[in-house]
Amino acid sequence: MAVSPVMTEAPFLRAARRQPTDVTPVWFMRQAGRYMAEYRAIREHHSLLEICARPALAAEVTLQPVERLGVDAAILFADILLPIVPLGLSLEFTAGEGPVIRNPVRTARDVAALRAVDAETDLGHVLEAVRLVRAELAGRVPLIGFAGAPFTVASYIVEGGASRHFLETKKLMYGAPDVWHALMGKLSEVLAGYLAGQIRAGAQAVQLFDSWVGTLAPADYRAYALPYTRAIFERLRPLGVPMIHFGVGTASLLQLQREAGGDVIGLDWTIPLDAGWARVPDRAVQGNLDPVALFAPPAELQRRVREVLARAAGRAGHIFNLGHGILPGTPVDHVRAVVDMVHEATARGTP
Ligand code: CP3
Repeated sequence: MAVSPVMTEAPFLRAARRQPTDVTPVWFMRQAGRYMAEYRAIREHHSLLEICARPALAAEVTLQPVERLGVDAAILFADILLPIVPLGLSLEFTAGEGPVIRNPVRTARDVAALRAVDAETDLGHVLEAVRLVRAELAGRVPLIGFAGAPFTVASYIVEGGASRHFLETKKLMYGAPDVWHALMGKLSEVLAGYLAGQIRAGAQAVQLFDSWVGTLAPADYRAYALPYTRAIFERLRPLGVPMIHFGVGTASLLQLQREAGGDVIGLDWTIPLDAGWARVPDRAVQGNLDPVALFAPPAELQRRVREVLARAAGRAGHIFNLGHGILPGTPVDHVRAVVDMVHEATARGTP
């Protein structure tokens, strides 16, 4: 779709393309969620999956942090696990345990039984939410669409839920590599189609969440994950929107993630922002405040925000964010204060 000149100038989109901005753009992964009273009020009446299934509710929750925090981008309210439902897998969110998949994928037969997914029909509710959010935003800030990267989605569907050691995932990867590659091939196809659908519906940037890829040694990342992530970025590149590539615990993987693709590379807080950027010098970077810093007293929080900004040193191509998502219990006024700090500290007149 045509991008209006006004939106092209949004600081978030300019920074993603490494163009100078008048202020450093800031948004937060998981900026909508339980730490916010407005979200909890809706969750009293609707489950997470209900919110995701109803475009009007998903749109309302997407807009909550835009109104409350003054962030420079909206991120669609959805979940990285939504595409596994049309694949034929069961998905539940249980209190305390997180996502549970009762029919995990562990054999060649399980992979063969996965259904073909057509984003327009099977995930049409998500695409409808994208259209609604775009209409309601009316150009105020750009909308980011997202999906999980194949490795991270595979880890949930092989384990049957969250995992600490990724035992089943790595057993499949090391013990039955042909089954692993068949699964990853199917997932990259589905996830690329899903993201392309979001872009066609109006998403102005996309983020690929490879949240748990930091559990892989670089050689295993290269052999078992990189080709599938790269296939997604290559398929989406002609669509022309900025793409963000994010993971946690990735200090030793950043160069390989760059190779896989993405205009913007996410940095977690365990590597200083400038050291991480030096590993991906031809890309924009996003990050990298420790999410737990948001619980610190305001003076300490401010010191840490300034530290991140000092390491970015005003270079074009920095998007301020956390190194991972906002945690439940985070004080909303601290999140709001970070937005103001970043904007005030970086205001440098028109580019
Ligand atoms: O960022 C946003 O504001 C958009 C919404 C969003 C959600 N999930 C909604 C959600 C996004 C971007 C995600 C991505 C997601 N989902 C990831 C990648 C990001 C990351 O944090 O690494 C992952 C790994 C998932 C899978 C998932 N969804 C887990 C592990 C859980 C349970 C964790 C928990 O905190 O309970 C979810 C549930 C979930 N998805 C919640 C939200 C707001 C919280 C549950 C609720 O409201 O009941």
